Amino acid sequence: MFLPGTMTVNDDGMLEIGGVTAEKLKEKYGTPLLVFDEELILKKINLYKKAAGSYPGENQIIYASKAFLCQGLAGLINKTGLALDIVSRGELFRARKGGFPPDRMFFHGNNKLPVELEEAIEAGVAIFVIDNAREAGLLTDLARRYQMKLACQLRVTPGIAARTHDYIRTGQKTSKFGVGIETGQAEELALWIENQENLILQGVHSHIGSQIYESRPFRELIWVLLQFLLDLRRNHGLILEDVNLGGGFGSPQTEEDSQVDIVSLVSEVAGELATTCRRESYPYPRLLLEPGRSIVGEAGTTLYTVGSIKRVNNSKNYVAVDGGMTDNIRPALYDAIYEGFLANRCREKPEISTAVVGKCCESGDVLVEETELPRPRPGDILAVPASGAYSYSMASNYNGIPRPAVVIVKAGEADMLIAREGKDDLIRLDRMPDRYK
Ligand SMILES: Cc1ncc(COP(=O)(O)O)c(C=O)c1O
Repeated sequence: MFLPGTMTVNDDGMLEIGGVTAEKLKEKYGTPLLVFDEELILKKINLYKKAAGSYPGENQIIYASKAFLCQGLAGLINKTGLALDIVSRGELFRARKGGFPPDRMFFHGNNKLPVELEEAIEAGVAIFVIDNAREAGLLTDLARRYQMKLACQLRVTPGIAARTHDYIRTGQKTSKFGVGIETGQAEELALWIENQENLILQGVHSHIGSQIYESRPFRELIWVLLQFLLDLRRNHGLILEDVNLGGGFGSPQTEEDSQVDIVSLVSEVAGELATTCRRESYPYPRLLLEPGRSIVGEAGTTLYTVGSIKRVNNSKNYVAVDGGMTDNIRPALYDAIYEGFLANRCREKPEISTAVVGKCCESGDVLVEETELPRPRPGDILAVPASGAYSYSMASNYNGIPRPAVVIVKAGEADMLIAREGKDDLIRLDRMPDRYK
């Protein structure tokens, strides 16, 4: 049974998260319910800070808000002093509503719309991570119009294929993100940006993919980026201040997943950057890291209520719950593997092996491919731990299913972060043409 953070099982065999029982959470908020463990989020953030602190130059940890964002979480992240990675005007709006200061925001994305750039400039976003030549052009035009100098990093494609699922791999030469180093496009665009009087090329950025558990791909990334920086210095006398290595640090989803030791992984990465810079006599750039899932993934547990239970044959059982791919599409999208257990019967011996499926009209709507459970009964609470990242943020209303509620727990208290959607929310944007009435 995977029990990250403050999760424990009490004497009644009931799961508790942050000192609140799964039963109480279900009673008060209903299911499906995404429950965040505040203590674990803060612990992860502190581990990142500690590890990055071993780097001899400056550092900045940036929370990748695409993993999960709401006003409350923006407020919590703000208090920790982390910066925020946003990729749309929607994330900008939400984070600002949560009180997050734009001067600690980094604006990402491979197709930022002109209106998004305008809103970000007006808000005073700290750094624009330029993905391509068109964006650089838009940005310099806007900077001129606003009579501002805008700080930028250039997202480059390093040509590193991290060992992870195709859909979460982004550093390979053919990636849709960034401009290629090998083709010379990155150097050309870096120079172009440098020559714009209203853009400040502050550094390079790269994000090679996600669920990376080893330091090797990051070390390779550092070598490639440093080589690029050295070329800029040698060929054009340019010295950049920022090296942004993106996010992607692995986040365990099951007990079997290797436990990532963030401190040693990040310290190794920071050490590699420092050593490489010393070797090349390059002034220590500011080190930036953008973890998302490794901050909120393990800290989120989804609670469901068991409904229908089906025995197909001797080897196949299905336990269906009241959510599914609408609140967590990751197993269907990229074969993410989770564990599931009965949160109200944690101390009972497993008796059956079963898949946990959702209620959507898709055979791919599987939350847990296979798990061992005590013989389940309708009404049981099924917990899927470590499901906090990219679950709610990718949630949909497929099949007319409202999105779940989200709460955060700490020291025996639970607070609502996002209310459960209701039926009215589903039709809020519908319009009825008169001729159909
Ligand atoms: C540019 C960028 N930075 C950071 C992240 C965060 O990655 P992870 O959640 O795997 O840490 C992503 C994820 O897609 C990303 O695209």
